[in-house]
Amino acid sequence: MERRIKIFDTTLRDGEQAPGCSMNLEEKLEIAKQLEALKVDVIEAGFAISSPGDFKSVEAISKTVKNCVVASLARATEKDIDAAYEAVKGAVSPRIHTFIATSPVHMQYKLRMTPEEVLERTAAAVAYAKKYLSNVEFSAEDAMRSDPEFLARVVETAIAAGATTVNIPDTVGYAVPEEMDRIIRYLREKVSNIDKAEISVHCHNDLGMATANTLAAVRAGATQVECTVNGLGERAGNAALEEVVMAIKTRRNYFGCYTGIDTKQISPTSKLVYNIIGQTAAINKPIVGANAFAHEAGIHQHGVLAERTTYEIMSPEDIGLARNRIVLGKHSGRHAIEEYLKEMGYSFTKEELDVYYEKIIELCDRKKVITHSDIETIVYNKDRSGRTYELEYFDVHTAKNSRATCVVRLKKDDEILEEVSLGDGPINAAYNAIDKITGNLCEEMLDYTIHSVTGGNDALGEVTVKLKAGERVVTGRGVSTDIIESSILAYVNGINKLLEF
Ligand code: KIV
Ligand code: ZN
Repeated sequence: MERRIKIFDTTLRDGEQAPGCSMNLEEKLEIAKQLEALKVDVIEAGFAISSPGDFKSVEAISKTVKNCVVASLARATEKDIDAAYEAVKGAVSPRIHTFIATSPVHMQYKLRMTPEEVLERTAAAVAYAKKYLSNVEFSAEDAMRSDPEFLARVVETAIAAGATTVNIPDTVGYAVPEEMDRIIRYLREKVSNIDKAEISVHCHNDLGMATANTLAAVRAGATQVECTVNGLGERAGNAALEEVVMAIKTRRNYFGCYTGIDTKQISPTSKLVYNIIGQTAAINKPIVGANAFAHEAGIHQHGVLAERTTYEIMSPEDIGLARNRIVLGKHSGRHAIEEYLKEMGYSFTKEELDVYYEKIIELCDRKKVITHSDIETIVYNKDRSGRTYELEYFDVHTAKNSRATCVVRLKKDDEILEEVSLGDGPINAAYNAIDKITGNLCEEMLDYTIHSVTGGNDALGEVTVKLKAGERVVTGRGVSTDIIESSILAYVNGINKLLEF
């Protein structure tokens, strides 16, 4: 009989831990809602004890999401488990996910504990979590560099204490598929109570084998896989959800299992996550890269036109990728715009629709034709900051061999603030003027990127900036057909985020 593989998404925990991927509460909530639409089984919403911000977002996600289990990570200590429980207790289906390392190197140098102490702590932590909730997951951190016999004892202990899921992480991305297969089969054979828990895997991608290792574990009997959208995560990331899910779907004949994922939500989810972290997919990234379904060579194009399956093993529609056709123009009425947004799967409130309508009409004035990508960019680039400052006006003067000048006017509550500044170029001048208004709130700009959404010289330019103040790094975004305006919007958006805490 075919097995159903549960998808445990850790984009908001392991994914968010990656440098440059931090998100604010509103962004995390939006991703959590999209993960629910994608129909993942478990959302790991964060690591509640790690910061007050993490606690708040796990709590908010727990109260919002109805159709997925919501989990918080906790080390194997009472304090961590208390925080995890407090954060997830409002969820319809809450889970505590507690972990301790089991490899010799971690036990000796990180934990400074003996193997017997780790066994005791495992039993105590799971039993403690179990007092709060019936749904408890236990992870043996660095399992793939652990002694298999000891790992089996730890897993058996965790299940005896009440763990309902036991997770076998390849924390440092060290394993190869054959080892993954062997360890899962070994645990299924040696752990006497293994049938009382789901077996999960959590593979990192340091050697580029996270997806292959995850799939090997599925073949060997794992029933839960932990992954992240776009493969985000510590260092080289985690197994990419879209790769694991589409491999299981496309090779159902080989794996003999299925997932509950609505694959048509894969592309929208991937785009939303990239937009929020201010990154784009490498063009050749499997499933979600721009070239994943592009056929350049004549012989391939000819083959696909004659019969799609000659060179395509999945269809773009399967992952919800819409053809980038022209969709709207200057004369499309409000009704056509509303209908198009609905067709894209968005359900907006009247107020939100008013905002998008205005933006799309404004774009129609600047751009000859509006494509699906333009609409997506406008919707994904919504302002998710507290909006302390808003751009009112700017005026820029620039010429070859002379410094640029920029006047910027921002609105803060009912106050209008205006400054003028010089700069090496128009964007530098604008940013200097904004720094004067905001009292140099941004201490360092770590990154500035611009990319055009579609071709053509009237394309939308999307700007992403990474701003630093103290220890905090935020992503600011702005989009316009005028790249100076997108640059200013991105900077103001980032500054508003810096002001959030
Ligand atoms: O990589 C890892 O081991 C983890 C655990 C905490 C599950 O992220
Ligand atoms: Zn991890």
